[in-house]
Amino acid sequence: MNQLLANLDPAKIPAHVAIIMDGNGRWAKARGLDRSEGHMEGVNTVRRITEIASEVGVKCLTLYAFSTENWNRPQAEVDALMHLIGFAIQRETPDLIKNNVRLTMIGDMPRMPLDARQRLQQCFDDTAHCTGLVLNLALSYSGRWDITRAVRLLAEEVSAGRIAPGEITSEMLAGHLSTASLPQQDPDLLIRTGGDLRVSNFLLWEIAYSEIVVTDKYWPDFTKADFIDAILAFQRRERRFGKTSEQLHP
Ligand code: FPP
Repeated sequence: MNQLLANLDPAKIPAHVAIIMDGNGRWAKARGLDRSEGHMEGVNTVRRITEIASEVGVKCLTLYAFSTENWNRPQAEVDALMHLIGFAIQRETPDLIKNNVRLTMIGDMPRMPLDARQRLQQCFDDTAHCTGLVLNLALSYSGRWDITRAVRLLAEEVSAGRIAPGEITSEMLAGHLSTASLPQQDPDLLIRTGGDLRVSNFLLWEIAYSEIVVTDKYWPDFTKADFIDAILAFQRRERRFGKTSEQLHP
C-alpha cells in the first residue's frame, strides 16, 4: 500500500473523482445472500474510499448512491436502501467531522423519504464547517434529470425577460446544474466497478472530458489499493481536451 502511494504523482491528483458503485447485488448473490446485504457491505467500501480519497488529497468525491431509475426496483429493496443510507449517514457523521469531510448531495431531495432527508440534512449541517474533502452523494439523481432541471431554470429567466435565448451559453447551463457549487464541477476521473461499460445516466454533462476507469471488481470488494491503481491509470493518460498531442508538447 505504501509502495503504491509512493508511486502517485502529488502534482497530478484528480481534484474530482466520481464513482458508479456497481455490483452490490452480484456480490451478494455470489454468496447466497440477500441483495440488501451487498448494499450493507457497500457502505464499508464507501467508508474506506472516503478515507483514502481524503488522504491522497482528492477535493471532491461524488458517489452514485441511488439513481432516478433505481426508484423502479422492488419496493423492499428501495426501502432497505433508503433506510441504510439514512442510518449510515447518521452513524458516520462523527467520523466525517473528525476527518474534516463535508457532506453534500445532488439529486431530487424532496423525493427522498422524510426520515432519510432529515438524517441527511442533519449531516449537511453538522459538517458544513469542514474544509477538507467534499463527499457528494448523488441520490435520486440522474444526468438527464439535472439537465432538464437546468433548462427549466434558464427558460424561466428567458420568460421573465432577464436573458434572451441567444445569450444562453454552455457556461450558463453548467451554472444551473446541481454540481455547480462543488469545488470542481467536472470529474477528472470516473470510476465504475462491476465491469459494465456504460455511464448509466450519471453526470452526463460533467463527464465530457473525464478519464474513465472500469474495474471488474464488485463495489464491496473494491479496496484502497484499487482506488490508488485507478488514480495511477489516470496519471498515465494524456488528457488532450480535443487538441493534438503535438499541441500539448510542442
Ligand atoms: C449498485 O449495485 C449499487 C446501488 C444501486 C446502491 C449503492 C449504495 C450503497 C453502496 C450504499 C450507499 C450508502 C451511503 C451511505 C452513501 P447493484 O445493486 O446495481 O448491483 P448489481 O449490478 O450487482 O445488481
